[in-house]
Amino acid sequence: MHILGIETSCDETACAVVSDGKLIRSSVVSSSVAFHRKYGGIVPEIAFRKQLETISEVAECAFHEAGVRRGDIAAIAFTEKPGLLGSLLVGISFARALGLALGIPVVPVDHLYSHIYACFLGKKNTVRFPCVGLIVSGGHTSLYYLKDYLDLKLLGSTQDDACGEAFDKVAKILQLGYPGGPVIEKRARAGDPRAIRFSCSNTKAPLDFSFSGIKTAVLYYTQKHPAERRRIADICASFQDAALNTLVDKSLLACTIKKTDTLAVGGGVAANTVLREKFEEQARRRGIRVLFPDKPLCMDNAAMVAGLGYHLYKLARKRGHDHAH
Ligand code: KG4
Ligand code: ZN
Repeated sequence: MHILGIETSCDETACAVVSDGKLIRSSVVSSSVAFHRKYGGIVPEIAFRKQLETISEVAECAFHEAGVRRGDIAAIAFTEKPGLLGSLLVGISFARALGLALGIPVVPVDHLYSHIYACFLGKKNTVRFPCVGLIVSGGHTSLYYLKDYLDLKLLGSTQDDACGEAFDKVAKILQLGYPGGPVIEKRARAGDPRAIRFSCSNTKAPLDFSFSGIKTAVLYYTQKHPAERRRIADICASFQDAALNTLVDKSLLACTIKKTDTLAVGGGVAANTVLREKFEEQARRRGIRVLFPDKPLCMDNAAMVAGLGYHLYKLARKRGHDHAH
């Protein structure tokens, strides 16, 4: 069964065709990030205009690359929330209009849940439930307990900034550009993670997160010390190490508390190679299996929307069926 996915929650315009919630036939992503860079962050008005301009073409490409005709699609899944309102509206309107034209249902999908679902796409990642899910993106940092694809319970989340947001803000402080994650990861390679003592603030609940204190600590540090090349590398490495350690520690703690041996990590920060290595090393020692999406699927994309949409569509059909009897 083919599902068309549509994702327009932030600066990306993405469409994908996925079969049976697993097989990605196409995943097209058009980003407007280059138009936001000079402002040092996302400008909602620009994101929304670019999405309006490109969505038809992106959908066209997704059908073409998949080798699937519009008439072969069973349903359209779209990102309903959370996200920038104007941007979301572009995807919602496009999905509804196409659904009407084709006479097929549209399925609203939660962006956060779809980030975790990215771990379950493709053949290699078979998952055993229950498991713990960590979402680390530019807008969110949360831990969930998953009984199955559609049954998620929140265990904890950030009390202030999201982890990706902290990477973006630290990059801004160091004048490294936007988005911060990839550039900090790159600069950190030349630095010493033990050079400066940064750490994330404690939270009242052990599975919550806090990243605003460490960002401020970086700001104060840079105000006191001249920004030489070598020092910037050390700041990047030390900040990155502290931010990633919190993610690893709290996620593994959640696995211990919930007695699960599987952890699924999704969202933009999950593309970070050092994070993947830290998880691999620490989790293996405790007999926990960590699932990551392929790197392009960590960022916003529509394949994860179509994948999760498949399960929601099946559930809605089953319920409708049960209702009819
Ligand atoms: O999931 P995503 O594409 O969008 C949201 O839903 O927020 O995540 C984007 C975020 C940005 O904050 C970016 O700085 C961060 O993910 N990011 C990274 C890396 N690549 C992207 N953070 C750390 N290391 C990376 N390699
Ligand atoms: Zn996202």
